[in-house]
Amino acid sequence: MAAEIRTNEFALRRWVGGSTQFDAIVERLFDTPDTGIRAWLRTTAGVVAFLIALQAVTGILLAFSYVPSADSAFTTVAFIEQATNGGTWIRSLHYHSSVMLPIALVAHIAQMIVRGSFRSNRTAWTFAIVILGLVLAAGATGYALPWDARSLNGVNIAVTLAGNAPLVGKYLGNWLRNGETISTMTLSRFYGLHVLIVPTLIAFAVCLRLFVFGTGRGGSGVYLTGRGWRRDQTVRNAVVIAIVFAALAWFSSAYPAPLAVPGTDAATFLPRPGPQFLWLFEMQKYTDGTFAAVLAFGAPAVVFGLLAALPVVLKAKMSAVIATSVVFVGAIVGVGSLTAAAYLQDTVDPKTSAQLAKQEKDEEAFRAAQFKPKVVRLGKEPGKESPKSDPVVNSAVPVAVPATYVSSCAKCHGPNGEGKGAYPELHGLTTREDERRSDEDLLGIINDPGSFGLSAKMPSYEHKLNDEQKQEIINWLKSLN
Ligand code: HEC
Repeated sequence: MAAEIRTNEFALRRWVGGSTQFDAIVERLFDTPDTGIRAWLRTTAGVVAFLIALQAVTGILLAFSYVPSADSAFTTVAFIEQATNGGTWIRSLHYHSSVMLPIALVAHIAQMIVRGSFRSNRTAWTFAIVILGLVLAAGATGYALPWDARSLNGVNIAVTLAGNAPLVGKYLGNWLRNGETISTMTLSRFYGLHVLIVPTLIAFAVCLRLFVFGTGRGGSGVYLTGRGWRRDQTVRNAVVIAIVFAALAWFSSAYPAPLAVPGTDAATFLPRPGPQFLWLFEMQKYTDGTFAAVLAFGAPAVVFGLLAALPVVLKAKMSAVIATSVVFVGAIVGVGSLTAAAYLQDTVDPKTSAQLAKQEKDEEAFRAAQFKPKVVRLGKEPGKESPKSDPVVNSAVPVAVPATYVSSCAKCHGPNGEGKGAYPELHGLTTREDERRSDEDLLGIINDPGSFGLSAKMPSYEHKLNDEQKQEIINWLKSLN
């Protein structure tokens, strides 16, 4: 019996070796044998590969239940959180591993500097930097997807930064917004980037690294002599990956991924980005306009550019090691201190920390609550003329959420005017039976809610918005039926 299994095992191994590129890939990955601490340092590559695979698997699982439209995105994320088995955990794994991934890549890059392989294996080095950039892009675009108050805040910042970029700002802003205003089309744009473009580029980069570019050494002597080393290194990788996964699995069940719950008080809601973007968030506090945009796009571009170029440009070993280390450590110190400052400011200010703690409590209660499906009426509504009776066409008409609604009203009345608790929903204001509101009423409410008998919880926007912005909100409110 045992002999039989052995034979089959060999047959399979022979087939894989003879019919696929497996051996060549193994040879490239396990290029030069290492021992001791250097061998353990090299397991960062396995961790990065594992985290990318985990992103793909959890991302696909989330996609099974998620609908990327301004109308449905939040409701479907709430569904994942409240109504599916393990949905919160899967979403948290996706979120936390997206934070881990840049950290693992930075560790990978660091060990390449320490071991000197940033010079000897420049392809691997360049790809590590490119993949770090792509992974950050994946995180930034994924941020929009829940379409909660955090997302809207993040999208606003991203679109504003893009719009303020010198020369191309106007086009870049419109492209990212996918139109003149932030709308369901903006969500489509971010979704397309997050699930199609960026993952394809990451997969492409990984494939190029594995299948097209080798170490530049070629020869197969290592493969023939390196069996023991390959087996040991595979075990080391497995050990480190198992530890990383266990830590992530525990962390994801203890600390669910953040979700801004609708109905939180707008005036006090504090959106915070994921830890990998706190440096950007902190920079935004002190910079504005074109300067902020140049800094946000320029600083990472300069760091990535220098890291990629220095080992090529500087031929002497010492100067390459010193210059690359200075740029790398400088970037880490810069990002680290901005991140620490952001955390510190949040904890030191009693008001802020109390509010953040309250938001966490709200989230916890929301997760424990029962899922409430959102009822969407499709097709013709009684008493309403609808030229398009096809429900799919109807629901595909983009409803542009005005940017000023997002920044002024969304946190009370919900990202799409769905309301919650004491904050009324804003759908059907102009068509309902009771207290139907005219255009003038809506303008009156925005300017002076008190004169319409509304409580002081609804603030006046008379001087906070200009006439055009008020009209834009009113037009949008009228489209919510
Ligand atoms: C701080 C939370 C808050 C913010 C911000 C806010 N609202 Fe309100 N809004 C309320 C509350 C609470 C009510 C209900 C008041 C009542 O019924 O006495 C209300 C009521 C309304 C109503 C009346 C709804 C109805 O059923 O007739 C409209 C219209 C409205 N808000 C529009 C807006 C617009 C537009 C903005 C942004 C420019 C906005 N609100 C921002 C809290 C808020």
